[in-house]
Amino acid sequence: MPRVPQSISRREQYRIYLNIILTTVRRWLNRKSPSRTMEGTRREYDKKWKKWSEGNYLLEGNTETRISLLRGLPVVARQIDYRKHVIEKFADAINSLQPESVLEIGSGNGLNVLCLALLCPTVKRWAGIELAETGVEAARNYLKELPLESIAYVTKVSKEMIAQRIANAQITFKKGDMHILPMRDNEFDFVYSFHVLEQAPDTYKKALSEAHRVTKKHAAFFEFWNEGQNIFQRIHIRNRGFFQGSFRDVEPIGFGILRFEVSELTQVAFAGCFLLCAANKDSQRNDHVRRG
Ligand SMILES: C[S@@+](CC[C@H](N)C(=O)[O-])C[C@H]1O[C@@H](n2cnc3c(N)ncnc32)[C@H](O)[C@@H]1O
Repeated sequence: MPRVPQSISRREQYRIYLNIILTTVRRWLNRKSPSRTMEGTRREYDKKWKKWSEGNYLLEGNTETRISLLRGLPVVARQIDYRKHVIEKFADAINSLQPESVLEIGSGNGLNVLCLALLCPTVKRWAGIELAETGVEAARNYLKELPLESIAYVTKVSKEMIAQRIANAQITFKKGDMHILPMRDNEFDFVYSFHVLEQAPDTYKKALSEAHRVTKKHAAFFEFWNEGQNIFQRIHIRNRGFFQGSFRDVEPIGFGILRFEVSELTQVAFAGCFLLCAANKDSQRNDHVRRG
């Protein structure tokens, strides 16, 4: 939860929705349709992670604010509080399921993995897969020179303890594509993503089936699932060319849904939703044995 969520007038929220409508009209008049390709995403994030790792992005993120919704009410929330809120959801799920190995798909600069490694000390092995080379480099650099300010705020672990605990953790970051994960079947107990499937509007089901292949037990996806969006958020997501997946899409892939919830703290234009799934591998194997 944000430390000091500052309530603001509804007018701010409606101003954002008005902009969404105006963008839609402009797009419609110009006959422009957004298109998102994997190569385009790779180039976009290669530039972003490079720029952000050269600047003071993490520290800026600690103070930078966005107009957000807290249980439906407009507030000004810091970016770091949004991240903290989502990371706590993953940490609760991981600590209750007790996996030994965890993979983040689309791990960006690695901050989520570093924070979770501190919040979930029973996990033995952590890995991050990221499409953009500069994201992987940033994450490896953070492993050597930890962004203590941000990690300490998110995890509430003291700066002295952070370095000690991360040094003892087994953490790796590698370049890879979520559509063809460079991992063995059932290599991890728990796989998760945080704002990543959105980047693959036409191919996210392939990424979900790869997540299913490499997880032995569970997966969690914090994404802009369609069911969580109001009408303006749906229009905005379409304007941006992001995925419009239903959380039910995971079922034909072999996941069982354990929990679906719209986050209490979301952005105004998108509502992040937490989906927790069981990989149901044992029942599949049993079905196969029964059929054979
Ligand atoms: C919005 S960022 C989120 C990064 C990170 N999960 C976080 O919370 O900071 C989306 C990330 O997904 C990565 N990504 C996009 N398509 C991918 C793919 N096909 N395979 C792996 N990563 C991908 C991008 O490069 C980018 O780092």
